[in-house]
Amino acid sequence: MSSPHDAIEVITAKRDAGELSDSQIDWVIDAYTRGDVADEQMSALAMAILLNGMNRREIARWTGAMIASGERMDFSSLSRGTSDKHSTGGVGDKITLPLAPLVAACGIAVPQLSGRGLGHTGGTLDKLESIPGWRAALSNDEMMAQLESVGAVICAAGDGLAPADKKLYALRDVTGTVEAIPLIASSIMSKKIAEGTGALVLDVKVGTGAFMKSVERARELAETMVALGTDAGVRTVALLTDMSTPLGLTAGNAIEVAESVEVLAGGGPADVVELTVALAREMLLAAGVDDVDPAAKLADGSAMDAWRAMIAAQGGDPDAPLPTAREQHVVPAPASGTLHRLDAMAVGLAAWRLGAGRARKEDPVQAGAGVVWHARPGDRVVEGQPLFTLLTDEPERFDRALASLEGGYDVGDGPAPVSPLVIDRIG
Ligand code: URA
Repeated sequence: MSSPHDAIEVITAKRDAGELSDSQIDWVIDAYTRGDVADEQMSALAMAILLNGMNRREIARWTGAMIASGERMDFSSLSRGTSDKHSTGGVGDKITLPLAPLVAACGIAVPQLSGRGLGHTGGTLDKLESIPGWRAALSNDEMMAQLESVGAVICAAGDGLAPADKKLYALRDVTGTVEAIPLIASSIMSKKIAEGTGALVLDVKVGTGAFMKSVERARELAETMVALGTDAGVRTVALLTDMSTPLGLTAGNAIEVAESVEVLAGGGPADVVELTVALAREMLLAAGVDDVDPAAKLADGSAMDAWRAMIAAQGGDPDAPLPTAREQHVVPAPASGTLHRLDAMAVGLAAWRLGAGRARKEDPVQAGAGVVWHARPGDRVVEGQPLFTLLTDEPERFDRALASLEGGYDVGDGPAPVSPLVIDRIG
């Protein structure tokens, strides 16, 4: 049978700022997944989309075509409703770790398919893999059984889910085409819709450490994703949250697990607790639950019980000591005063260079590596006292990590400028 379209026709239509038809979109996604459209052709199309954009119809169709490239999961037979969360990625963003068991403790199941980190943002699976014995790969049947028994699963997405996105995301990563809003929105939402969650809360990060550097672009991304989810029958809301400052006091793998466990034990940094509870409320509301207070479930230990059960169900030992880095380097505060600014990108790059993240997706990560900061913006610091502790197994990494922290923080007189953690809500 002859093909209804060809790659050059589709590329040139978008190059000349035209609209792609439904049939062109269905064809190009299917042909690319099958290998009939070459990587260099898809790269040209992705760049044309980045430069000329897509309208709502095109984005919805593109998302639908990526969903149709693979399997769809279905949790409708579970005895409780499902709600998931997706973060567009930030520094120190360990929120999924306390959040999934917290929402499970409130009676809603959380089917969280997560990824590994690339570049300066950490990956949830990398963090959890620092727990001895814990495994990320589950079959669909294992996932279903764990959702019924424990109520929360955090695992790797199987190869069957939106394979077109897997291929396209890897291509975008090496062709300078990650930042296109239509491509980010369709990439995230194709996976979340195919995953089959009933409700979805999007944590769209804004600031130096995020994909979206301005509130305007973050809002556009959030509105696009909320519309895609809603049209697909998933109750979707988005919070725009600050990522100019990293979350909590740690960026790495094992050290972020330890901080998450502190939150589950009723302590932990105030911003991590605030965002965890705010997102839990939204996830519960989106799933139709408005009579359970997540803050109470953190305080009474039920979220911790769900965490322990979730880790154990995936082979992990929640009581095992976490790995630690072999080497550490302390950076003292340069002056006494108030920490006015702590830049998320600087901290994320430092953690990455210490070995907590990877440059290529096949690289290993160090479980114990990362950065601990001993003050948050607004805190008083005293000259000479530790401001950062850098952790790694390979001391030759310290110099480059220190270079990335340079210019990434200010200590000054008077109070620090205050910026809200939750900037806006869309949906
Ligand atoms: N995360 C995704 O899954 N896709 C993108 O395009 C960007 C972030």
